[in-house]
Amino acid sequence: MTLDEMKTTAVAMLDRSYCPYSHFQVGAVLECSDGTTFTGCNIENAAYGPTICAERTAAVKAISEGHKDFRRIVIAGKSEDFCFPCGLCRQFLYEFAPDLEVICLNGKGESITISLRELLPHGFDQSFL
Ligand code: THU
Repeated sequence: MTLDEMKTTAVAMLDRSYCPYSHFQVGAVLECSDGTTFTGCNIENAAYGPTICAERTAAVKAISEGHKDFRRIVIAGKSEDFCFPCGLCRQFLYEFAPDLEVICLNGKGESITISLRELLPHGFDQSFL
């Protein structure tokens, strides 16, 4: 998938979002180093806590299919602000790809690219254990 195709797919994933509580749709496409891609959307729950973000949906799909080597992720939101990953997703992704390229889209189709290391300086990893 080209980057443009990843962006289009992340936006298309907004329609798969299950967000009856926040009404905040998020879509994602995660690309592995071999070019394989996995999609995700946020999935909410009446108990709120079990809610899973779009980024982690995509990552969990990838890992469970045997892919752990992530290269980049596109995250799409609908608001004017760029949809940056939440703190929990930053740490979750850091486990597998501290140098991940993160491409965030807003509702106008504009994008910003930032590295996961910039988003999560001094992230926790196995070297601390
Ligand atoms: N959400 C994501 O899916 N990804 C983010 O990076 C930020 C937040 C979801 C979780 C919840 O369903 C909704 O957006 C509002 O927080």
